[in-house]
Amino acid sequence: MQLNKHFSEISESYLFSTIGHKVAAYQAANPDADIIRLGIGDVTLPLAKSVIEALHRAVEEMGHKETFRGYIPSEQGYDFLREAIQGYYAGHGVAVGTDEIFISDGAKSDLGNFLDLFDVNNTVLVPNPVYPVYVDDNVMAGRKILYMPATAENAFLPMPDDAVHADIVYLCSPNNPTGATYTVAQLEKWVAWAKKNQAVILFDAAYECFVTEPGCARSIYEVPGAKECAVEVCSFSKIAGFTGTRCGYTVVPQALAQDGTQLNKLWMRRQTTKFNGVPYIVQRGAEAVFTTEGMREIQQNLDYYRNNAAVIAAALDEVGVWYCGGKNSPYIWLRCPAGMKSWDFFDWLLETAHVVGTPGEGFGSCGEGYFRLTAFGDAEKTKEAARRLKEAIKTL
Ligand code: MLT
Repeated sequence: MQLNKHFSEISESYLFSTIGHKVAAYQAANPDADIIRLGIGDVTLPLAKSVIEALHRAVEEMGHKETFRGYIPSEQGYDFLREAIQGYYAGHGVAVGTDEIFISDGAKSDLGNFLDLFDVNNTVLVPNPVYPVYVDDNVMAGRKILYMPATAENAFLPMPDDAVHADIVYLCSPNNPTGATYTVAQLEKWVAWAKKNQAVILFDAAYECFVTEPGCARSIYEVPGAKECAVEVCSFSKIAGFTGTRCGYTVVPQALAQDGTQLNKLWMRRQTTKFNGVPYIVQRGAEAVFTTEGMREIQQNLDYYRNNAAVIAAALDEVGVWYCGGKNSPYIWLRCPAGMKSWDFFDWLLETAHVVGTPGEGFGSCGEGYFRLTAFGDAEKTKEAARRLKEAIKTL
């Protein structure tokens, strides 16, 4: 028996686990330190009232013989939720069929699971820096990975290069970690490149709800023809605070085929074997997000986080630190002051201000010298963190 040798090619610990351990060690050594965590992009507001009410109703249904639900009739998800998601897309001018929507337990799982459909000899193209999940998933499987630098020079939005061929490309917009957001016009170029290369785009739209600027894409399907080359993966975590409740969705268009085989059919086949669906209760909670009242409550939460981003941005402006993001995104991507390296700034900020962020280098070599702060924190703590950050930087 042999273990998967590719595990030796990924770092021993996942980025956010490493940070968690470092912070726990610091806290143990400094029990009085009042640490503020703006590292992992986890939400802090509770689930919206409409969602909680829907969850309660569904729990009640499960307690009565007449309304109890067992196995989900379709691993693809309940019709009521897929119809609600279809309506959400229609609200921003995108038509998707309910037979193209698959309910998942979150974007992270599907971003890895979808690779079951692809041969191990395919080449994968990812931006650098990047959400580490795309890289780790493919390294574990033994796929060849090509990196495209996302730098200040290209505004952290790499564009296709005709000299580069790949079979699978990951795009994340609004981007984790940089917050940079592709316009529809830029995504048109990616769609054209994918078609020319017979490549599949795995489009991570987990942060689409933060888009406010006109021209910026919320879905790759805003580009005509994208359904022939792109899968879109989305989540209820960021839009509605489901990080602990787990629910997401993946759109696999009927028009997406390779060598005459529809990926939608393959994905359905994969899911029916390996997945038994998301709990009924959770799907009812997710459905409530798209009601008029749910949407109103969720917008209030998103504004709360947007305000946190503005607070962090104002502090950085005051001390002249360069940053981007925070506008169509809950992440602020800043250049470490005084030429510090990412992990040095992480240690310095933890020790000097008791504030935790995410070192840019943890997302890839091109993230070296940068640092990510999340706007998903508590508002008062974010204000305090911004104050401490400012005061600390002034001493440099
Ligand atoms: C992050 O901090 O990058 C996110 O929380 C990751 C995720 O959603 O899995």
